[in-house]
Amino acid sequence: MILVTGGAGFIGANFVLDWLNFSDEAVLNVDKLTYAGNLRTLQSLQNDERHVFVRADICDQASLSTLLAEHRPRAILHFAAESHVDRSIHGPADFVQTNVVGTFTLLEAARQYWNTLDAAGKAAFRFLHVSTDEVFGSLSETDSQFSEATPYAPNSPYSATKAGSDHLVRAYHHTYGLPVLTTNCSNNYGPYQFPEKLIPLMISNALAGKPLPVYGDGKNVRDWLYVGDHCSAIREVLARGMLGETYNIGGWNEKKNIDVVHTLCDQLNRLRPKEQGSYHDQITYVTDRPGHDRRYAIDARKLERELGWKPTETFETGIARTVQWYLDNQPWVDEIISGDYRKWVETNYTQRA
Ligand code: NAD
Ligand code: DAU
Repeated sequence: MILVTGGAGFIGANFVLDWLNFSDEAVLNVDKLTYAGNLRTLQSLQNDERHVFVRADICDQASLSTLLAEHRPRAILHFAAESHVDRSIHGPADFVQTNVVGTFTLLEAARQYWNTLDAAGKAAFRFLHVSTDEVFGSLSETDSQFSEATPYAPNSPYSATKAGSDHLVRAYHHTYGLPVLTTNCSNNYGPYQFPEKLIPLMISNALAGKPLPVYGDGKNVRDWLYVGDHCSAIREVLARGMLGETYNIGGWNEKKNIDVVHTLCDQLNRLRPKEQGSYHDQITYVTDRPGHDRRYAIDARKLERELGWKPTETFETGIARTVQWYLDNQPWVDEIISGDYRKWVETNYTQRA
């Protein structure tokens, strides 16, 4: 079996669902179930013996060691993290704890487990670390895209802690020989994304008749990848990636935030027209995110050249699927928009002019 951390979050859960669609190899899903973890996403696996869910914290080495000894996975895919930049600005401590201490603790448990394997088991084992393009910092309009050789220059507490985790993973390979792989991916979107992130937040607010809060001048650029394409890239890297290597994953879809918001409004005007006016009327410019990175863009040619991976969704097809998914799955969103989520919205948005 494989062990997945953070498999109740947005990308982790999409990965688990996709994995079990493509393979009968069982998944041990280890997740702390923070505000971002949601077992409802995995409801279709409730009676599926191939999916074993354990609520545990990746900072708890004793639990991790017990799970590894008991289930003896052939690979660990590490998705668990605190993932939202704005939350890292309001409260960086949880990010240091989970992203740095948690990754370190998981690496230690993995190393001890790996040392108990025989030569064949050791050679076949993989630790795949799921990371982000934000570790490379910010690009100007004319800079070339991030490649695997771009120096690290993280700017937010979130990206700094992810950079720290990437360095630890690298060190465990160089120092102890742990067979690691690291992926650095651009912005994901798709089903089951928590509505604190740009795309699901804008869809939810639009449907609720609330303002659509665009930070700063709205011209920051992100490089969007449909989550299913991220999952297929990870499967490819796990199967055929070179040990110790890093792989950039991206969709060749650079978009200004304001253009993404206009696209969402266009889709909603078509699919769920308002009684009066247009969703575009709800767009509101608000105070910028402190230290807001201007542009991210991924050069994903290494993955294509070495492993033959390419995204299958264009931004147009992916965004259409995503908007339709949110329209069809309002109960999933409504459940999340609980007391805790409301508190976050108050913290992040009420002080923005
Ligand atoms: P998410 O916030 O939706 O999910 C994170 C999951 O990790 C949740 O289920 C949460 O309960 C779990 N978790 C948090 N702390 C934990 C702990 N201490 N122990 C065990 N589980 C814990 O995040 P996501 O957007 O799905 O991102 C997954 C991974 O992909 C992260 O490592 C993130 O840095 C990386 N990534 C995300 C994106 C993106 O656009 N969302 C892009 C590139 C890389
Ligand atoms: O690049 C990969 C990263 O993408 C991942 O590592 C992170 O986990 C993920 O959260 C994401 O980070 P971003 O900060 O780019 O995503 P977010 O959805 O928070 O914001 C996307 C852009 O939209 C960013 O430029 C800020 C802007 N924004 C965001 C929100 C929530 C707004 O203008 N208004 C908003 O209300």
